[in-house]
Amino acid sequence: MPEPHLRTVVVLAAGEGKRMKSTLPKVLHPLLGRTLLGHVLSAAAPLAADRTVVVVGHGADQVRGHLTEIAPDSTPVLQAEQLGTGHAVRIALDAVPDGAGTVVVINGDVPLLRPETVGALVTAHEEAAAAATVLAAEVPDPTGLGRIVRDADGRLEQIVEERDADATQRAIREINAGIYAFDAVRLREALSKLSTDNDQGEEYLTDVFGLLRSAGEPVAVHMAVDHVETLGCNDRVELAALRRLLRDRVNEAWMRTGVSLLDPVTTWIDVTVALDRDAVIDQNTQLRGATVVGAGASIGPDVTLVDTIVGPDASVVRSHAVGAEVGAGASVGPYAYLRPAARLAAKAKVGTFVEVKNSEIGAGSKVPHLTYVGDATIGEQTNIGAASIFVNYDGVNKHRTVIGSHARTGADNMFVAPVEVGDGAYTAAGSVIVDDVPAGAMGVARARQRNIEGWVVKRRAGTPAAEAAQRAGDAKGAQRAGDAKGASEMSGAASDSEAMHGVAETVGGTSGAGDTATE
Ligand code: UD1
Ligand code: MG
Repeated sequence: MPEPHLRTVVVLAAGEGKRMKSTLPKVLHPLLGRTLLGHVLSAAAPLAADRTVVVVGHGADQVRGHLTEIAPDSTPVLQAEQLGTGHAVRIALDAVPDGAGTVVVINGDVPLLRPETVGALVTAHEEAAAAATVLAAEVPDPTGLGRIVRDADGRLEQIVEERDADATQRAIREINAGIYAFDAVRLREALSKLSTDNDQGEEYLTDVFGLLRSAGEPVAVHMAVDHVETLGCNDRVELAALRRLLRDRVNEAWMRTGVSLLDPVTTWIDVTVALDRDAVIDQNTQLRGATVVGAGASIGPDVTLVDTIVGPDASVVRSHAVGAEVGAGASVGPYAYLRPAARLAAKAKVGTFVEVKNSEIGAGSKVPHLTYVGDATIGEQTNIGAASIFVNYDGVNKHRTVIGSHARTGADNMFVAPVEVGDGAYTAAGSVIVDDVPAGAMGVARARQRNIEGWVVKRRAGTPAAEAAQRAGDAKGAQRAGDAKGASEMSGAASDSEAMHGVAETVGGTSGAGDTATE
């Protein structure tokens, strides 16, 4: 067994990326869950390098900040002036104390590079004991890229940049992908000999190949199986094209593991997302960040989930969730908004036009319609009436509402936190609950209704309403205009049929809470 090689990865990320026309450095642009730089670093991760050096320049502070988040073990090295890729690697190696082993250099803007490909490049390089090996690909359109120039025997002679190439060289479709493996000692030596005698007046890393070859050192070409992996990113049009290619790659991989994507073209899944078998993802769905979708869950259409965990067999329809948890068999939407720390236990329901933030909704509990639940704990098997607001904010501080299990709260309630509603308690429709409601009690907090009979006929005489009232039998009311009694038909006729009625006339009496809650 040969000694394992000491490996150093150098990522070149100092360039401005002028054509992106962005205040964000090019390598920090996001692409399905990682930055361009993040993709490159994760492709290099399986190399288990002894050290990783990232050359930073444009937007150095931003790039350094990003590195402390995603690759705290890497070493950023500043290239204050971008004098070329050769110059960048020279500076990177100056920061690395000892000389031996393999140096893997990767341009920071090749996000589709697969770990297997860079792994195969490095293995081939080390097995051949080459001085330098370049990853190359045959591409349909080589415009702007360095060409692989071979001699009559088909061996690499040099790499020529397009702007320095002659017509014959420009016709070559075999290009330099910007990913290389070098023997560290021979690389250092060659870098010290680079000239700036080229169209851009820069030190080209690619010239190392010609120099080594002239010195009789073995240089090699490793062909990429799929040229798509070598695509760079220079502007936002290319970035969008890379995003589509990565989307297709990610989607295909999930379908092969047993996830159904009903419309892969409108399904965007970050590379950081995890999906379980028999999940069904409907169209126009975006799954981002640390999102996890359990087995048999159904997501979409028109859903965005960011850092959200969805349990098995749950369903989320036309909704937006960030930092939420949806329990097994729970149901969300259509048109729900789950904000950070919204936690739905198994079989809970958050229905239509409902917003939930920093709240636990217990197993089997339901918040079906038009409601804001903020900073609350709701027990199990509880039903929250339609159009309720958990009033959590007094303008300075946030407070919690606690609702017990098997509670039934009426429609159009406000829970003015801090407040508690006990297990099995009811609240009347239209209540503003400012005091605790004990377990099993009916909380009523609203003005009693008063009907002024005959009012319309008297005060709105001649209107269609008055005529309708008369047709409905308000003759007495008409006769006794001015008198506030009569017309008993009016009361009760307008109760919410679907939403919870709340208490009937006799509060505290036996007639109780009217027919029912929403469901
Ligand atoms: C480079 C290669 C070209 C290859 C292409 C693949 C050279 C001379 N040419 O060209 O053969 O086909 O990549 O995409 O290397 N960078 C620095 N410091 C610098 C200059 C560049 O860190 O001083 C970084 C950039 O941020 C970028 C990478 O190096 O991530 C490549 O630089 P770029 O200017 O894009 O090189 P290309 O012209 O694309
Ligand atoms: Mg480039």
